[in-house]
Amino acid sequence: MPEVIKIEGGHRLNGMVRISGSKNATVALIPATILADGPVTIFGVPEINDVDALIELLFELNADVKKVKDHVVIDPSNLKNIMLESEAVGKLRASYYFMGALLGKYKHVRMKIPGGCNLGPRPIDLHIKGFEALGATIEYEEGLYDIKADRLIGNKIYLDIASVGATINIMLAAVKAEGRTIIENAAKEPETIDVANLLTKMGAKIRGVGTDTITIDGVKKLNGTFHEIIPDRIEAGTYLIFAAAMGNRVVIDNVIPQHLDALISKLEEMGVDLELVNDSIVVYGRKQNLKSINIKTQTYPGFPTDLQQPLTTLMTQAIGQSSVKETIYKERFKHCAELNKMGADILETGYAQSYINGNTKLKGTKVQATDLRCGAALVLAGLIADGVTEISDIYHIDRGYDEIDLKLNELGAKIWRESIDD
Ligand code: EPU
Repeated sequence: MPEVIKIEGGHRLNGMVRISGSKNATVALIPATILADGPVTIFGVPEINDVDALIELLFELNADVKKVKDHVVIDPSNLKNIMLESEAVGKLRASYYFMGALLGKYKHVRMKIPGGCNLGPRPIDLHIKGFEALGATIEYEEGLYDIKADRLIGNKIYLDIASVGATINIMLAAVKAEGRTIIENAAKEPETIDVANLLTKMGAKIRGVGTDTITIDGVKKLNGTFHEIIPDRIEAGTYLIFAAAMGNRVVIDNVIPQHLDALISKLEEMGVDLELVNDSIVVYGRKQNLKSINIKTQTYPGFPTDLQQPLTTLMTQAIGQSSVKETIYKERFKHCAELNKMGADILETGYAQSYINGNTKLKGTKVQATDLRCGAALVLAGLIADGVTEISDIYHIDRGYDEIDLKLNELGAKIWRESIDD
């Protein structure tokens, strides 16, 4: 039976919240493990549905997987390179990392088109272009990809867009290729660095991650290893925004503050009082009215697209008009109509821009999580609003936020789940 999340608004947040391992790193690290010839142990795995779907795919591939609390041991020794076409592939976008990993390991992969949040068009042409540059041929018929190569040979690949997915997928395909691969205009997001770190521990030879140019010298064999996932900068950013709106004193623990520079400086510009203490950030209650701000999403280290949605909810509480310019996913504005149902005053121009007239009173009502970060934006609206907010389609939220209801209740919020009839 589907569930909704209900939130009784108006309760202040206090205490400490521990941030889980990064979703967007985890969803690439899990497929990356199959390149090894022995067991790989990953620590800090978040409790999210995307992980469950990837583990389902590992089982289909005949990997031996053991998950105990937040660590997972994956032994790909008896892997079978079967066609990936089950429902699990369509549950998330990151299933496409099996393309690079299986191609790198077997020089052949067959899988159906991946799923993921509907944020407007999300092509994978750059991934495909990268595989082709390494010598693969691609057939695509009725939603199924068949990608194969006699030999994978290193090459120079320039990405027209610094795509996170393409950068990681090409790394996965190239680590066992013959010779040198150079990825130019590579993504610099911390998650790409985390994946490269795991691959390096497995024996891969990768240089330049975190810069525009990544150089990979292919190796013949990759071994098992241990790896701890970096903290989730988007989950951390979401709780920073929650605390900025409703916190008295909230400690956000297990963060790499540097990963959040863009958000922190924008929150400070709004007048949020916060302090960095080692690997945690303390947010103090609001002492003044929040000021309106303008943001433009960009690739890392610019302002992350994933946080513009929850930040939009905070902007509804600022004095004056704020704006969001989206340069990564031009249609990532579905949260605006939902927030307007609760009393927000947001104009979406249709040209990848929204204007948020602030200082609006939000009222609890029924809203729909149209995608993961829209879900986070609505949870915040529920925390702020008068009365009870009911959020449907919460499977989007459970895809990416580890026990959000539990973590928020521990901070003093009133949030619970209820089953509803289909
Ligand atoms: N793009 C192309 N062709 C490609 C690949 C990407 O045109 O072959 C475009 C996309 O359509 C988009 C832009 O390039 O306009 C950037 O896409 P990118 O490939 O960097 O994004 P992604 O790898 O699909 C990851 C995260 C997203 C996050 C973006 C941007 C994962 C699983 N997803 O997506 O996370 O928004 O990077 O940082 O890592 C989320 O967590 O809510 C989420 C959607």
